[in-house]
Amino acid sequence: MPLEQWSPDSWRKKAAEQAPVFPDALALADVERQLASFPPLVFAGEARKLKALLAKASKGEAFLFQGGDCAESFAEHGADNIRDFFRVFLQMAVVMTFAAALPVVKVGRIAGQFAKPRSDPMEIKNGVALPSYRGDIVNDIGFTEAARVPDPARQIMAYRQSAATLNLLRAFASGGYANLENASRWMLGFVKDSPQSARYQELADRISETIGFMRAIGLDPESHQELRQTDFYTSHEALLLGYEQALTRIDSTTGDYYATSGHMLWVGDRTRQPDHAHVEYVRGIKNPLGLKCGPSLKPEELLELIDLLDPQNEPGRLTLICRFGADKVGDHLPKLIRAVQREGRNVLWACDPMHGNTIKAKSGYKTRPFERIISEVRAFFAVHQAEGTYAGGVHLEMTGKNVTECTGGARAISEADLSDRYHTYCDPRLNAEQAIEVAFLVAELLKAERLQRPHAEVAAE
Ligand code: PEP
Ligand code: CO
Repeated sequence: MPLEQWSPDSWRKKAAEQAPVFPDALALADVERQLASFPPLVFAGEARKLKALLAKASKGEAFLFQGGDCAESFAEHGADNIRDFFRVFLQMAVVMTFAAALPVVKVGRIAGQFAKPRSDPMEIKNGVALPSYRGDIVNDIGFTEAARVPDPARQIMAYRQSAATLNLLRAFASGGYANLENASRWMLGFVKDSPQSARYQELADRISETIGFMRAIGLDPESHQELRQTDFYTSHEALLLGYEQALTRIDSTTGDYYATSGHMLWVGDRTRQPDHAHVEYVRGIKNPLGLKCGPSLKPEELLELIDLLDPQNEPGRLTLICRFGADKVGDHLPKLIRAVQREGRNVLWACDPMHGNTIKAKSGYKTRPFERIISEVRAFFAVHQAEGTYAGGVHLEMTGKNVTECTGGARAISEADLSDRYHTYCDPRLNAEQAIEVAFLVAELLKAERLQRPHAEVAAE
């Protein structure tokens, strides 16, 4: 069946899962009008640059590192949070870059990651049932009837917060904070006495030595911006389509439509029906896209989605973010890879070891055992190795804070510890120390993979 003409609002004619119902339609229309008049948060040229980097990652010439909160919140919006996140993110990126000797493409789940799909439309607490919290851009996390009513004014708050967050991130990325000469100073205080700290310090010392050597031979960081600054991109789930539509703009250079709410948008595992609204919206924007692939995705469905989302087979356009669960990845991933290979489709394969490994602790907290996260990452790399394809990226829920949300890791957080510092607004995140531990694992796997490549290919880097 030929596809109908796409327009920024063509999704409105389709069925949509996970769509909040706003009781005040006039207020919603008014907010969408305001948003449509606001400046873009990101530029089409930046999204194109990211796409080119992701194209390299799909060929094994770079590696995607995507990470951040499950859900950003209005209450936690502050400079310290953003800085601590960025510090851990940079540390992890440097760990991976150094080991793999590959450029790491840095994409935050940040500056727009507000809307949440929910498995259950209702939340029940002590016998009281209320509509579920759907992210700060939709309603309030407080467990009262009033708090859970979708309020369109929250979209303006989310836009402003995204702009302020992005502004600080841009300053950090280009204003000297990300200078590789600072690598040893990115370590956060509370991580300092951990095993990860010693490992990281050793690496930071080697980087300092290397930069010292470069200086000695006349290559100094002041004249090489790659050493002083970094490119950092933003991403979020394209879930709240009215908001996305309002920020969809025509790029004056190419005449194409781009989402300007973030550089990369992804479609979640619950909203990827080929004939529904979310797929309809993203197929018409030219940004790089992500597609979450969970255990219910069949190879034929994946191919149908690839046809819709990437009809030109454009490298860098589509990242398949696999989130099967440690015990399922071995069953599901090879079938999808084989289908994609058979059809000759250019995709980037990334591993989200978080969303298939969520369990409920006896205390009622949602958590993720660290060993399952690690085990899914390992299995993901092993499957790609066996299939002769590239493990091209990792997608993590993480924070720069010392939270206790996922069990395990070097400090062996137990289920009993979860209540100490359980702060997430949605899913459990890796704390800074656990996140760095994952980065070291990914680094090892990347290094092992690189060492197995034909020598010429490595030398070409
Ligand atoms: C998420 O990334 O927070 C999320 C909800 O993921 P998924 O769609 O894979 O469940
Ligand atoms: Co999540």
